Amino acid sequence: MKTNVLKVNPISPQDDMMQTAARTIQAGRLVVFPTETVYGVGADAFNVEAVQRIFTAKERPASDPLIVHIADPTQLAAVAQAMPPLTRPLTERFWPGPLTLVLKRHPDIPPAVSAGLETVAVRMPSHPVALALIRRSGTAIVAPSANLFTRPSPTTAAHVLQDLRGRVDLILDAGPPDIGLESTVVDLTTTPPRVLRPGGTPVEALRDVVPDLQLQLQYLDGETEAASSPGLLSKHYSPQARVILFDGADNRAVLERMQAMAETLMAEGQTVGIMATEEDALFFSDILFRVAIIGTQQNLKTIGHNLFAKMRLLEAQQVDVILVRALERTGLGLAIWDRLLRAAEGQVVTVE
Ligand code: TXA
Ligand code: MG
Repeated sequence: MKTNVLKVNPISPQDDMMQTAARTIQAGRLVVFPTETVYGVGADAFNVEAVQRIFTAKERPASDPLIVHIADPTQLAAVAQAMPPLTRPLTERFWPGPLTLVLKRHPDIPPAVSAGLETVAVRMPSHPVALALIRRSGTAIVAPSANLFTRPSPTTAAHVLQDLRGRVDLILDAGPPDIGLESTVVDLTTTPPRVLRPGGTPVEALRDVVPDLQLQLQYLDGETEAASSPGLLSKHYSPQARVILFDGADNRAVLERMQAMAETLMAEGQTVGIMATEEDALFFSDILFRVAIIGTQQNLKTIGHNLFAKMRLLEAQQVDVILVRALERTGLGLAIWDRLLRAAEGQVVTVE
């Protein structure tokens, strides 16, 4: 399959390009499009064969359910049913935007979308290109992140091509997305509702609407033990290099431990990469480490924006190991912690 790339205007997407993309979706083919979180690989949510193509293209197990994207809250009724009372206040406040709600699946949505579950995950993205594509296609669009299974999510068309060239029909290239981390997934079918994946919408903001919103143990501050129990987190969002995550109350002590580990690994002949904030990077003066600056601690948004791109950058520099320090877990920090924890396959080096 030849993968075509169209450079589309991110603010007011060109009509002819959106027409081409919409026809591709209607034909049951795959279109990669930008959202405000990460790039997604899209297909017609009501077309079973198109949905299957997504699993094949990503090498994604059929047991991992997909998110359905809509362009208007009124479209929700075609995708989900028996909406709980919290649905409305949540969609009114957070849509369009990086919030995915898990609801009871509408019978018209093929079970394959939801890995056979009775539920369905739905979100309304805010990116103008995503909205235009969904509207033009006249359907809802299933779209997982446009990476191969277990790889870091793509935040540029180049990342998408690295993973999916020859596996998708069309890529709409609109430059890097605003957020860089996937949406927050909230299950509304349980009482109280639960966060299944922290993401672009901070949990603190969700609690304004859902005060008793539940979090899984590995996200609670100080719960490094629960976080690092083996098997709790599957390999996900991972570059080919091994990622080692360091945590501890004393930043200086953590950085010293990272430096010592880096030196040991280098002495063993390994190529070491470090992902560091601007502030921390000053500490790693040894030019033999490949230091990728992920943003500033003053603004977690910068870190979210760069995180996956920097993982891929160090990978392209052929590092064997990536060392990174855990940051605060508030606001967007919780999603950053989650992605790092998964990249590290749940293993955390705790520095006393
Ligand atoms: O920001 C995003 O959400 C991006 C963009 C493209 O919209 N999409 C995305 O999709 O991250 P994906 O497939 O990479 O992640 C979907 C997440 C998975 O963690 C999946 O388990 C969960 O949503 N999910 C989907 N349907 C579900 C369901 N019915 N019940 C529970 N979890 C579900
Ligand atoms: Mg994904």
